Amino acid sequence: MDVLRAKHAGACYGVGRALDLAQEASCAQGVVCTLGPLIHNPHVVESLERQGVFVAPDVDSVPDGATVVIRSHGVTPDVMRAVSAKAGEVIDATCPFVQRAQVGAEELAARCGCVLVVGESGHPEVEGLVARAKEAQAHVCVVSSVNDIPDDLPQPVGIVVQTTQRSENLNSVIDALRARGIAPEVKNTICTATRKRQDAAASLAQKVDAMVVIGGRNSSNTTRLAEICKARCAKSFHIESAEEIDPAWFEGVDTVGVTAGASTPDDQIKAVEDFLVTL
Ligand code: F3S
Repeated sequence: MDVLRAKHAGACYGVGRALDLAQEASCAQGVVCTLGPLIHNPHVVESLERQGVFVAPDVDSVPDGATVVIRSHGVTPDVMRAVSAKAGEVIDATCPFVQRAQVGAEELAARCGCVLVVGESGHPEVEGLVARAKEAQAHVCVVSSVNDIPDDLPQPVGIVVQTTQRSENLNSVIDALRARGIAPEVKNTICTATRKRQDAAASLAQKVDAMVVIGGRNSSNTTRLAEICKARCAKSFHIESAEEIDPAWFEGVDTVGVTAGASTPDDQIKAVEDFLVTL
């Protein structure tokens, strides 16, 4: 069976960097923890625990003096202040692209009466953007789609975007504002990693007999990849590790495609590929 990997698959820059920083932190003296699971990948979280990096679900659970790793989504300024007051050392693994969005939210808040955050309400990254704009005294709204835009908006209006949003959603929000005569100042802070993985998965799924999608079942970006593949290739399977593969899935299959979510490290992809080529 031929095994083909999607052109873009697996851990993105921000996740890879957070993993490297957490692994370096495992060598620190004393207790080392991440504030929440570092990524949505149970195998990686377990592996970090074996290396002595445990998960503190919230700031109250952080032991005094611990080394604390902040995950790639970032945190609100309040949480950062609370962690810094408790921790011996804070290792900030916030993705630089998320940091760029955070700075964008602050800059827009300083210049505009109103900041729209285009993103998923309640997501930790979005909460961080909202909190930064609010600290700068702006009126802030989270807009997950064009339907969420409020009727009354103090002007001028600024727009900042959750890094994983699709550009179509941002554009529809901008168009809807323009149709109301509002010219927003836009900081397009979308990161292309998610889109590249989705487009590459869609393209590969059309060409192969079966697709394997690797990543945590609690990872929304991996689940989305699995949906994209299933829509184009009936034999698409979402797995977390090679052990879950049933050889019977591949009866009559000549070519299998492999993709993986942005929170799946390369060694997990390789383990699956190595198993598939033996079938
Ligand atoms: Fe960063 Fe983009 Fe990944 S924002 S965490 S590189 S999806």
